[in-house]
Amino acid sequence: VINCCRGIPPPEAIPSAALALHAAAALRDAPDLAFQYAPIGHYRGDDALRQQLALLHSADADRIFVGNGSLQVLDLVAGLLLQTPGTDVYVESPTYDRAVRIFARHGARVRGVPVERDGLNIDALDALVRERVPAFVYTIPDFQNPSGVTMSSAKRRALADLASTAGFVIVEDSPYRSLRYRGSTLPAIYQISEPSHIIAINSLAKVLSPGLRIGYAIATPDVVSGLAALAEDTYLSPPPFCQHVAARALTAGLVGENITRCIDIFRPRYEAAVEVVQRRLGDALFAIPEGGYFLAAYVAGHEAQVLNAARSVGVILTAGSAFFPAAQPNKAVFLRLPFQALEPSEFAEAIDRLAPIVQEPAAAIAGS
Ligand SMILES: Cc1ncc(COP(=O)(O)O)c(C=O)c1O
Repeated sequence: VINCCRGIPPPEAIPSAALALHAAAALRDAPDLAFQYAPIGHYRGDDALRQQLALLHSADADRIFVGNGSLQVLDLVAGLLLQTPGTDVYVESPTYDRAVRIFARHGARVRGVPVERDGLNIDALDALVRERVPAFVYTIPDFQNPSGVTMSSAKRRALADLASTAGFVIVEDSPYRSLRYRGSTLPAIYQISEPSHIIAINSLAKVLSPGLRIGYAIATPDVVSGLAALAEDTYLSPPPFCQHVAARALTAGLVGENITRCIDIFRPRYEAAVEVVQRRLGDALFAIPEGGYFLAAYVAGHEAQVLNAARSVGVILTAGSAFFPAAQPNKAVFLRLPFQALEPSEFAEAIDRLAPIVQEPAAAIAGS
């Protein structure tokens, strides 16, 4: 059975041995810090860690809040921005399913804006914004989960401009940004936006360790204080030990080293995956990503039948409909195909098994 479901780093992409040494040093040098609460009073995260993250992002440390993984940070951001039930939030369609569930849990009215091969359809967003200005627009601009798409520079600028003229916040979630296998890095949206109109969320989960649960926001000092206050009321204290270990790892250059290692591991998997999906599934491939973990394909048929048929040939897929905030008007089945954890031969085997049971959809269905 080949599991094509989870977008998690494989063990070989986590520098566990080096992290264990940093963890041992952290326990030896600062056991009191490890086993106590973090300071009370709107704590924004370990100072050394925030300094290191500030260096990484060329931002001031007073613009950084560190929480327990980026998903929790997203929940806190939603808590801060969605204080009135029924507030509008616009998301990419498809998007990260857990984000939509978080926004809905905070009472938002979540509406989807189609993702094209170069990112969010800005004209469709503009039309929605003219109807109602949302509290925020949630985007994953780099190697999007689940479509693999990267937003073009022009669209990033258009989105930043629309946010400041219409008066909404952009929530930019970019955990895969450093994992680029081809092409050149585009400006992050937070680098080209008015600071009061952007909250950037990032994570060490895909570049160091998911288990340390280090996620962070880059925002105005006011938003950072708001997040810190909400965090304290939610979980009192993050685990200081995890933040201390992450600070040591960053200071020692382990994150930079590990990004290089991850790219070396993932690039051949990525190249082989693109090749086999293009060869076996043809036009079903939605877009050729330039990094990250995911390829996506649209195939014809009914989702349950496709998933069951795949299971019967030993391929486990995620139900792609979960990534759409509303039912899709067309009948195409969306397949998210994470390639990062499979050897090229395993991934090719999965696609070889899938090819006879899925049909390429008409271009109109697969298209943007
Ligand atoms: C787009 C996106 N945001 C957030 C997360 C959550 O990451 P973390 O482990 O930092 O909570 C993920 C995890 O896969 C993700 O794909």
